[in-house]
Amino acid sequence: MRSEIDVHLCEVGMRDGLQNVSVFMPTQEKLAWLAAEAATGMPEMEVCSFVPPKLIPQFNDAGEICTRALEIPGLTVTALIPNLKGAERGIAAGVHKLNFVMSVSESHNQRNVRRSREESVADFKRIVELVRTVPAAKRPKLAAGLSTALGCTIEGQIPETDVVKYAVILAEAGADELAVPDTVGYANPAQVRRVFKAVMSAVKPIPVTAHFHDTRGLGIANALAALDVDVRHFDACLAGLGGCPYAPGASGNIVMEDLVFLLESMGLRTGVDLERLIQVRQILERALPGVPLHGGVGKAGLPKGWHAATPIARAAE
Ligand code: COA
Ligand code: ZN
Repeated sequence: MRSEIDVHLCEVGMRDGLQNVSVFMPTQEKLAWLAAEAATGMPEMEVCSFVPPKLIPQFNDAGEICTRALEIPGLTVTALIPNLKGAERGIAAGVHKLNFVMSVSESHNQRNVRRSREESVADFKRIVELVRTVPAAKRPKLAAGLSTALGCTIEGQIPETDVVKYAVILAEAGADELAVPDTVGYANPAQVRRVFKAVMSAVKPIPVTAHFHDTRGLGIANALAALDVDVRHFDACLAGLGGCPYAPGASGNIVMEDLVFLLESMGLRTGVDLERLIQVRQILERALPGVPLHGGVGKAGLPKGWHAATPIARAAE
C-alpha cells in the first residue's frame, strides 16, 4: 500500500460492473474510463477478466485493455482469472495482479467455474507454480477471492467455518492476498465483523480485501463494519455499475464515489480526488445509455465546505 494512504481502493467496475451489463462498452470508451479514473489517483483497477470470450463477450478486448492500462504510471493493473488458462493469458498480458476466484459454496463453484471446490484448489496450486516460474521482476501478485463467502443464491447461508477453511487453504497454497466478497448482497454488518475478524486472524499477515455488493442496500454499512475490524483494502465500482441480470434494478458493487466520500469524510486518506472521480461518471453516461447509474454524492454533489482528508497530490493530466 502507498504510504500516503490509509485505505487501499480498487476500482472493479471494468470487470465486475461490465460483466453484468448487457451492452458492449466500446474499447475506446473503456480506455477513456481507465485513463480518467487512474488520473483521479485511483491506485488499482481490475480491468478485465480472462475467461473464454464466448462466455463473456464484454472481455473480447482484454488484451488491448491490459496493454493500455499497463502504460499508465503508478496504476496497479489487475485481472480476474477462473482457471489455469486464465492465468496463462494474464501472465502473457503482463498484468500486475491476478485475481483467482473460486466459491465457498460448492454448488456456486460448480455453476460458475464447472468444477468442485477441491478441483479449484488444485487448479490454484498449479497457478501458484506457474506464477513462480515467471522471473521475479515480471511476476504478478496472486490474489484469491472466496466468492459467495457471505451468502449464496443457491445454498443460502454459508458456514463461517467453511470461509475460514478455504481462506487458510488458499493462503497456505501461496496466495499473496485474499478477498472476501459478498457476491450477491446477502451480508449484514454483524456478520461482516465476525467473518472478517476470523479470516484475518487465520491468514495474518496476508491482506484481506472486502468486496461488497449493494443489492439489498447494506453495502456501505457493511464497508463501515469491515473498517471497524481493521479491513483496509476495499473493492468498489464507479456508479455502482452492474447489478444482477436476475434482479432488475438491483445495484452492483458498492458505489466507489460514496465509499471515497465515507472514508475521506472520516479522515481516512484514499489518494483519490473525489471531485474528479464524480466527473468520470460522465463517461459511463455517454458510453452506456440506458444503464442505471447509482450513487448518492454523484447525484447530490458534495456538501458545502466539504474537504478531503488531506490535500491531494493530483496525478498528471
Ligand atoms: N480463457 C480462454 N479460453 C479458455 C479459458 C480461459 N480462461 N479456460 C478455458 N478456455 C477454453 C479451453 O481452451 C477450451 O477451448 P477449446 O474448446 O477450443 O478446446 C474451452 O474453453 C473449454 O475449456 P474447459 O476447461 O472445458 O472450460 P469449461 O467450459 O469447463 O469452463 C471456465 C470453465 C472456468 C473457463 C468457465 O466456467 C468460466 O470462465 N467461468 C467464469 C465465469 C465468470 O467469469 N464468472 C463471473 C466472475 S466470478
Ligand atoms: Zn463482485
